Amino acid sequence: MAATASVGGISRREFLYYIWGASMAVFTAEFTGLMVWFMLPRFREGEFGGTFTLPVDLLPDINAEPTDYPDGRFWLVNVDSTQPNELMWQAEDEETPIQGVAAIYKVCTHLGCIYAWTAANSRFECPCHGSKYRLDGRRIESPAPRTLDRFNLEALDDNDNVLASAEELDGFFQALILPSSTTQIRIDTGDKADGPSQTLLCQFASACP
Ligand code: FES
Repeated sequence: MAATASVGGISRREFLYYIWGASMAVFTAEFTGLMVWFMLPRFREGEFGGTFTLPVDLLPDINAEPTDYPDGRFWLVNVDSTQPNELMWQAEDEETPIQGVAAIYKVCTHLGCIYAWTAANSRFECPCHGSKYRLDGRRIESPAPRTLDRFNLEALDDNDNVLASAEELDGFFQALILPSSTTQIRIDTGDKADGPSQTLLCQFASACP
């Protein structure tokens, strides 16, 4: 009869089984850990890259100066082009009214400087190369190549039920008209849409530099 090799009192075959079983256990644990890590949200509520749930009281009045929200790196605007004033109006190529609430990313679409609201001129202005934008983020003057980018926005009630979401038209989040029962808005800074390239507003006014 052939002798069976043994290691520490167990056969060679049993030893290999144990090694194989241990390897599978380690692989399964690593795989499970990776899956859990992928499923966990990358950013917490209230952290840039994640969501921000804010009371509607924070919103500015219609066509009033925007609300700065530094933690989320966005401006909140509330616009209605059917009630024009020096901050917001309807341009010749805008066929439908622009109405509702939007969260606008605070980074200039030219080379990424932080622009600001310039109250004296009733518009956003970039200090780096002079791009200018209307209250809703549309370009007034270049060199910015496009309208300001926006974040996804939802209207919520007191129980965090979603009442309405920003419509995405040609890949860009439209301003959202809030249903009357809205008490909160949720902005997802992990879901940003690039602004469209549109005719400069200064071209309509024949006032481009
Ligand atoms: S980065 Fe704003 S105009 Fe150049």
